[in-house]
Amino acid sequence: MRQTENGMFGENPFKLGIFSPNCSGGMAITTVPERWDASWGNNVKLAAVLDNVGIEFVLPIARWAGYGGSTDFQGSSLETVTWATGILAKTKTLTVFATAQTAFFHPLVAAKQFATIGEIADGRFGLNVVCGWNQPEYEMFGLKLSDSHDERYALGSSWLNVMKKAWSKDGPFDWKDSFFNIKNGQCSPKPFLNDLPPIMNAGSSAQGQSFAAQNCDFLFTVMLDIPSGSEMVKNIQAISKREYQRMIDVFTTTYVVCRPTMSEALEYHHHYAVDHADWPAVDKLMELMGMHAHSFPRDQIASLRTHFAGGHGVYPLIGDPDTVADEIERIAMAGFGGISMSFVNYLKELPFFIQEVIPRLENKGLRIPTKRQI
Ligand SMILES: Cc1cc2nc3c(=O)[nH]c(=O)nc-3n(C[C@H](O)[C@H](O)[C@H](O)COP(=O)(O)O)c2cc1C
Repeated sequence: MRQTENGMFGENPFKLGIFSPNCSGGMAITTVPERWDASWGNNVKLAAVLDNVGIEFVLPIARWAGYGGSTDFQGSSLETVTWATGILAKTKTLTVFATAQTAFFHPLVAAKQFATIGEIADGRFGLNVVCGWNQPEYEMFGLKLSDSHDERYALGSSWLNVMKKAWSKDGPFDWKDSFFNIKNGQCSPKPFLNDLPPIMNAGSSAQGQSFAAQNCDFLFTVMLDIPSGSEMVKNIQAISKREYQRMIDVFTTTYVVCRPTMSEALEYHHHYAVDHADWPAVDKLMELMGMHAHSFPRDQIASLRTHFAGGHGVYPLIGDPDTVADEIERIAMAGFGGISMSFVNYLKELPFFIQEVIPRLENKGLRIPTKRQI
């Protein structure tokens, strides 16, 4: 049995979520004064809006250090497990993810944290497993980021298997492999209704995709364009079915600039992501991602500089409501089950998206019509 009450498994054909509101700047690397202030108060206000309008999920970024520049982009961030626990206590329908970095959280600590969250969440918790790329954070913890993606994801598998064992085994258990040496491991309480929460992995490398195909309900991956995104979804779902006899849903991440007209949207994008980009922070992020992550092809990453300033390099949804809704429809037709979205200022910009774009998605059959109260 899955946690069917969790919105990630709910009835909307195409799911929507919000990404990175726990981090200063959100996903936009800009100096404009309205850039996102990731205060607790703002996060609670945002969560209330999401809860009221039936957006399925909110996903934080686990970040321990910023990227410098004049804004120190993402330099202030609310820790994801404590953040998720508080947001869950304040909401009623929203799925709230916490992010666990496999190198920094012992799986038995994580198993207990997430079983506890499950009780608070009444089945609305989701787990994002992150297998690592940000080398300065590893140095901060005195750890070495493995150069081998195989090893990073082997640790991820072992970590997840220890957690699942702790969640499913009634008595104590021992565990020994090259990553963990556990004697009399145990975890009580067990997850909510003895069932696993939705588990997602975010990774674009072949190893990341294969790890998700084997272990996760959702893969979040970066999409450069719709044709390559469509190919990627087909490949991942084929691997999952052929090699692991299971289904996986693939989501991608986007940033949104939606305005009444196309020219207003383009002008605002140019304003915050070109004229007022925090370029030193953009370059720092791109350098680190280029060196240690496979999210973006190395030969193409330089061409994405404006999109990094606009929203961390992920897929841009820029335009009037018709254009944005059409683009989301193309993403759905490519086989993706949903998207995460970010805005320069989530609280100021989301109401327009909810009023103008969501009804268009409903008309396209991508969302079930609902009454909304913003
Ligand atoms: C939607 C999404 C969420 C992510 N969340 C985090 C995070 O919270 N913390 C982090 O360090 N990395 C995060 N990542 C980075 C990935 O976990 C992964 O390390 C990165 O995509 C590189 O993996 P790869 O080289 O296997 O493609 C995220 C990536 C995506 C696409």
